[in-house]
Amino acid sequence: MSPTFDQIHPPQRLLMGPGPINADPRVLRALSAPLIGQYDPAMTYYMNETMQLYRGVFETTNDATLLIDGTSRAGIEAVLVSLIQPGERVLVPIFGRFGHLLREIAERCGAEVHTLECEWGQVFRPEQIEAAIREVKPSVLALVQGDTSTTMCQPLEDIGAICRREGVLFYSDATASLAGNPLKTDEWGLDAVTAGLQKCLAGPSGSSPLTLSPRAVEVVHARRHVEAGISSGSDRLAEPGARIRSNYFDLSMVLDYWGELRLNHHTEATSMLYGARECALLLVNEGMDNAIARHALHGQAMVEGLKGLGLALFGDQAHRMNNVSAVMIPDGLDGDGLRRSMLEDFGIEIGTSFGPLHGKVWRLGVMGYNARRDTVLTTLAALEQTLRRGGVKTVAGGGVGAALDFYQEHQRQAANGRANPSAGGQS
Ligand SMILES: Cc1ncc(COP(=O)(O)O)c(C=O)c1O
Repeated sequence: MSPTFDQIHPPQRLLMGPGPINADPRVLRALSAPLIGQYDPAMTYYMNETMQLYRGVFETTNDATLLIDGTSRAGIEAVLVSLIQPGERVLVPIFGRFGHLLREIAERCGAEVHTLECEWGQVFRPEQIEAAIREVKPSVLALVQGDTSTTMCQPLEDIGAICRREGVLFYSDATASLAGNPLKTDEWGLDAVTAGLQKCLAGPSGSSPLTLSPRAVEVVHARRHVEAGISSGSDRLAEPGARIRSNYFDLSMVLDYWGELRLNHHTEATSMLYGARECALLLVNEGMDNAIARHALHGQAMVEGLKGLGLALFGDQAHRMNNVSAVMIPDGLDGDGLRRSMLEDFGIEIGTSFGPLHGKVWRLGVMGYNARRDTVLTTLAALEQTLRRGGVKTVAGGGVGAALDFYQEHQRQAANGRANPSAGGQS
């Protein structure tokens, strides 16, 4: 007898780990909108609107602002394979797992990769990156902004000017940080930025928004090849540069698809386009500064609550992302077992980390649709009970109490016009 299958019916979860998070219901509704064909004028209209909305999210005027179909690492691969010619030097400063990912992808693109490493839980000073650029003379600097594995946020604001001076293209992976922490693509001189939806953008994973500066577009265009089956012959470059070593991630072709030529490439993932557009619309309507302030406020409330539970924070707190924090798992406690109890008893997911931090820290994310007061308080209440059952002595109500005190103080200061503008937002 063949097995019978039922409709999909996933359990209800509150996703308070480092991502993915629960998508905003508006995004879920957009995902279920009717499908249209890829040359329908309505599709072209939505693609153009999506480009315009993401210019707002990335704080850029870059024409080349679009979506790559695939999760965040699809955007990373598209940028690196399109910018790097085999044999070129690339510098990757590594301060966590995702720096290692950038290195690996750059190596697969045939680059001569040079790395700079710092201890997990720390970030680089601009002078360290500048010295390495002078020494290595790379054509591309690939640098993560927020490394979810350590929760650290690398300051980027001074790096763009260094790259311009030294003639280096500056790429940053902002998957975990965009919309939860400031990122000013144009003002900070970034040439390429990629992201994903499943963190502060309040969507599901599966689409990677990306932006390219005119300098980066020039590099990509110099390698433009039109697929033989759709080429008119007259669209061939007289002296095309080295062909980009991926068809799917060839940004020159993807730009021809999203640009005025509308040259066919892949079949755009329509439902993901609807979802990604809704994510950007939510943010643009809220205002990027307000969205960042909301993450700062609720992220800090979570931190105050964790401290109130007597947990020690991991890493350099001056450089922690607003939207994810890591705490040390108390000695002798089965960290994975406790995470399982949170999930089974309360339906709440929190994370551990990778590599050297696996089993040493828990990571709690407060982002996107879940950057709210009720989610913070519920998670802290559940964590307190779970810690107690695990034999950890905590102050009764210490986590929720500390978070509530923080919110109250924030409200008092706001009423007096003295709230920290970086922690404003809605509560
Ligand atoms: C900083 C960073 N880069 C890249 C990725 C990879 O993203 P994805 O799993 O969407 O491909 C992640 C995922 O957590 C991330 O946090």
